[in-house]
Amino acid sequence: MKHFIQFESKDLGEKLLNLALAYKANPRRDDHKGIGKRVGCIFLNPSLRTRVSTQIAAQHLGMEAMVLNMDKEGWALEMQEGAIMNKGSVEHIKDAAAVLGNYFDILAIRAFPTLNNKEEDTTDYVLHQFMKYSGVPVVSLESAIRHPLQSLADQITIAECAPVQRKPKVVLTWAPHIKAIPHAVANSFSEWTVGMGHELTIVHPEGYELDPKFTQGATISYDLNKSLQDADFVYIKNWSAFNDYGKILCTDERWMLTEKHLSKSPEAKIMHCLPVRRNVELSDELLDGNRSLVQLQAKNRIYAAQAVLSTMVDSLTGIK
Ligand code: CP
Repeated sequence: MKHFIQFESKDLGEKLLNLALAYKANPRRDDHKGIGKRVGCIFLNPSLRTRVSTQIAAQHLGMEAMVLNMDKEGWALEMQEGAIMNKGSVEHIKDAAAVLGNYFDILAIRAFPTLNNKEEDTTDYVLHQFMKYSGVPVVSLESAIRHPLQSLADQITIAECAPVQRKPKVVLTWAPHIKAIPHAVANSFSEWTVGMGHELTIVHPEGYELDPKFTQGATISYDLNKSLQDADFVYIKNWSAFNDYGKILCTDERWMLTEKHLSKSPEAKIMHCLPVRRNVELSDELLDGNRSLVQLQAKNRIYAAQAVLSTMVDSLTGIK
């Protein structure tokens, strides 16, 4: 595995999941593996979980992790090839990426979408510029279109909490939000959940269809109550429209998930990647109640990142 930017295969997904569970059982079992290796965590956007869990994961492996909040502490980056840089931007991404590639063995990048330039966003332009010009392996810490570390943590959580006797029914449900939100978490959750062999229903108001490239193998529905019936896992997430790119088309509060929605789903556990807008996306009673897996998901971010960094260190040192 050279880069970690998306779901690759069920085999690799299961390998990472099992390694993550082994690290969860004994976080320091490979505490010499990363000695002498440095990961640079470059944030072009804010973060709580991704930033801290990736640093802890590196520490568990004996790696050095350095964080650069590029959006606040770095020079303003120019992204366009051939730009005449006579305005606000100070440093071209090709120069910055190459410099960072000289400093680090692995680069980890967070780069959100613009939500107004669909072509640039759907090609994951910024992440690929870092991959192209840094010359070192890259981990996505959430790109314009995917959030694979979150999705790996979510698969760990599902594996830990799934019913023993049957395949779990997993539902991804759209929820309202006050801002236009990226598609990355929903895209990746769909890609990983289907890829790992689970049954997935995605339910949302009309107009909120995700890019079909990410939803192959999932059932798409507009009927919230029907979709939730007998669910084992309900993943709540807002995203803005994809076809009417970056727009908010619906603010209907009936899509805010409450205990009432789950009256026909006694086994349903609820999931959210956090941060969450309480009582906008879902209710306090759900977040604070017994159904909630959100803190477990957040904890599993450490072991997801640890499994990925460990596997990348193996690639750097030629271990298959
Ligand atoms: N879920 C997640 O990625 O959280 P942060 O944005 O705080 O890193």
